[in-house]
Amino acid sequence: MVIAAGNWLTLTPLPGMDDSEFERWATLLERRTGVVVPLSRKTFLVTSVRGRMRETGRSSFAEYFSELQKIPEGAIEWTTLVDRLTVHETHFFRHPPSFDLIAKDWLPRVTSQTGLHAWSVGCSSGEEAYTLAMVLDRHIAATTGAKAYFGVTATDVSLPALAVGRAGLYPRQKIEEIPPQYRERYCEPVDGDSFRISEALRKRVGFAQFNLLDAARAPLKRLDLIFCQNVLIYFARDRRRELLATFANLLKPGGLLVLGSGEVTKFAHASLHRVDNRNVLAFLRNS
Ligand SMILES: C[S@@+](CC[C@H](N)C(=O)[O-])C[C@H]1O[C@@H](n2cnc3c(N)ncnc32)[C@H](O)[C@@H]1O
Repeated sequence: MVIAAGNWLTLTPLPGMDDSEFERWATLLERRTGVVVPLSRKTFLVTSVRGRMRETGRSSFAEYFSELQKIPEGAIEWTTLVDRLTVHETHFFRHPPSFDLIAKDWLPRVTSQTGLHAWSVGCSSGEEAYTLAMVLDRHIAATTGAKAYFGVTATDVSLPALAVGRAGLYPRQKIEEIPPQYRERYCEPVDGDSFRISEALRKRVGFAQFNLLDAARAPLKRLDLIFCQNVLIYFARDRRRELLATFANLLKPGGLLVLGSGEVTKFAHASLHRVDNRNVLAFLRNS
């Protein structure tokens, strides 16, 4: 709550969160998204919940918690809160060796196909999905000399992040993340402060809200490429393995699964074999 005190605006302090209250909130987040917040990151959770409570004029963690259980009001409020409780950091071409692997090693082997379907899992504000689209567009055309037929499905649990992705409009500084040869072809200046992804490329990327906890029921199948970086690191080890098994089933033979390095250790699956590349953690679906 904001109180005017003389010429000063002061924020009334909200209560602290004891460890058992923290446990309740962390469990709620894990149950609804799979994201684990350890006690060492309590400050992040508390700051995020408090920030939303301030915005909405709430002052009790317990009352806010109960409100979140109500249907439909709680479910509506959750769609905003979940955005605050998850980390959205992302970049174009975030892990260059992964995109090199796709462009130089994998694509030349699969471009005889008529079309390719990729999934950017936990796409945040879209940079990863557009990077995939740029790489696929440029290299399919370069490899086959033909028009590239492909689509990228980009999913995330956060509606605000998806809205940014859908608009394809980014601050000017972000263009530095995109190598010049891609910039010229796929980015259009809007004004001094921002640029937009070209319409032709935006049409290739479909954004949708999707909770990874529902992955086993994903309306996707026979995918050529699943790209999942910096998402599973927030999940418990068993959940990661379950998700990876689901990803394996969603790939078509010869399909590629690209993970972030360190996303999973000692993972093996009967339908997958590890790609021999020490800079990228990737698996191919057996034929
Ligand atoms: C750190 S970002 C990673 C973005 C991108 N993959 C990258 O590597 O740059 C993690 C994303 O995972 C999303 N996320 C977390 N839990 C999720 C869930 N259960 N279902 C779908 N997306 C989730 C978050 O909303 C966030 O946008």
